[in-house]
Amino acid sequence: MLVRVKAVSVNPIDTYIRSGTVAMTLPMPFIVGCDLAGVVEATGPAAKQFKPGDRVWGSNQGLLGRQGTFAEFAAVEEGWLYPIPPGVSDEQAAALALVGITAHLGLVREAKLRSGEVLFVNGGSGGVGSAVVQIAKALDAQVITTAGSDEKAAVCRELGADLAINYKVQDVDATVKAFAPQGVNVWWETLREPNFDRSVALLAPRGRMILMAGREARPAFPVGPFYVKGCSLHGFAMFNATPEEQRAAATDINHWTAAGKLRARIDRILPLSEAAAAHRLQEQNTLGRAGTLAGKIVLKP
Ligand SMILES: NC(=O)c1ccc[n+]([C@@H]2O[C@H](COP(=O)([O-])OP(=O)(O)OC[C@H]3O[C@@H](n4cnc5c(N)ncnc54)[C@H](OP(=O)(O)O)[C@@H]3O)[C@@H](O)[C@H]2O)c1
Repeated sequence: MLVRVKAVSVNPIDTYIRSGTVAMTLPMPFIVGCDLAGVVEATGPAAKQFKPGDRVWGSNQGLLGRQGTFAEFAAVEEGWLYPIPPGVSDEQAAALALVGITAHLGLVREAKLRSGEVLFVNGGSGGVGSAVVQIAKALDAQVITTAGSDEKAAVCRELGADLAINYKVQDVDATVKAFAPQGVNVWWETLREPNFDRSVALLAPRGRMILMAGREARPAFPVGPFYVKGCSLHGFAMFNATPEEQRAAATDINHWTAAGKLRARIDRILPLSEAAAAHRLQEQNTLGRAGTLAGKIVLKP
C-alpha cells in the first residue's frame, strides 16, 4: 500500500535504531519510525483488504529490513495495516500503534490476564504504561500503577487506574501490599533496571511477570522465592510478533478505541520537521529519566 502519511509517533526503539545501539539490517538511505496513520493513496496488484481512500494505521516499520514511516508517503505491506475506526483521529491511531499492540501482546498472549486479577505496572502515564493501564481495565482487571508526580498520578486515575502511587514521595511496596494483600497476579515491568527482590516479594502465588525493557540489565534474581511461589517470567519484543499476532491485537484495539475505552495519552503534537528534537526529548525521558514527558510525541507531515 502506498500510504499518504497523516501522523506518526515516536517510540524509544526508533531512537535505539537511529543511534545504532540496537543493530538491525536497514535499507539505506534509512527513514526512521515504526508507527503511522494515514490514507491509502494507491495499492499494488495483490491488494486484498484496502483500496485508495481507506484510512489505515500500522506499526512495526523502520526495523528488520523495512523502511520507516517519518515521511509524506510510506510504502507498507498490507499485512501490517489495519483500518482506523470512524471517529478515531489520525493522531490517536498513530500514537497507540506500537504501544497498544505491545500492551495487548503482553497482557493477553503472555500474561493471560483474567477478569478480577490484580495488575501492577510502573509508569502508568508513559507510552506503554498508559496502554497497559487501559487495556488491563478493558480486560476487567484491578490496576495499580506508579507515576513520578501527583499530576501524572491523576492522569493515571483518569485512564482508569484503581490505585496510582507517586513513587517519588510514597512507599510503593507498602501501598501495593495494603491494596493487594494476596499479592499481584501480573507485574508488568517497564523499567530498564528491574528490581526482582522487590517485585517477586509482591507477586501472588502463580504470579506472572512481564519483562520488555533493559537490554543491558543484569540484576540479581531471588530464585528460591520465585519458584516456590510458582511464578513465571515472560519476556518479549513486539517486533518479533507475527503479522497474524499483531493483527489479532489490532482488532481488539480497534474495538476498544471505537467504544471509547482506549485512548492514546498524547503529550504533544509537532510538525514532522521537528523529528530530531522529538528524538532528543524521547531519549532524555526514556534513557535520562527527565520526567518531562507524559505520553506520546506525535508528528504530522
Ligand atoms: N519489548 C517491547 O516490545 C517494547 C515495546 C515498547 C517499548 N519497550 C521499552 O519499554 C520501555 C518504556 O517505553 P515507553 O514508550 O513506555 O517509554 P516512556 O513513554 O518514556 O515511559 C517510561 C515510563 O517510565 C516511568 N518511570 C521512570 N522512572 C521510574 C521509576 N523509578 N519508577 C517508576 N516509573 C518510572 C516514567 O514515569 P514518570 O515520567 O512518571 O517518571 C514513564 O512513565 C522502553 O525502554 C522501551 O524501549 C519495549
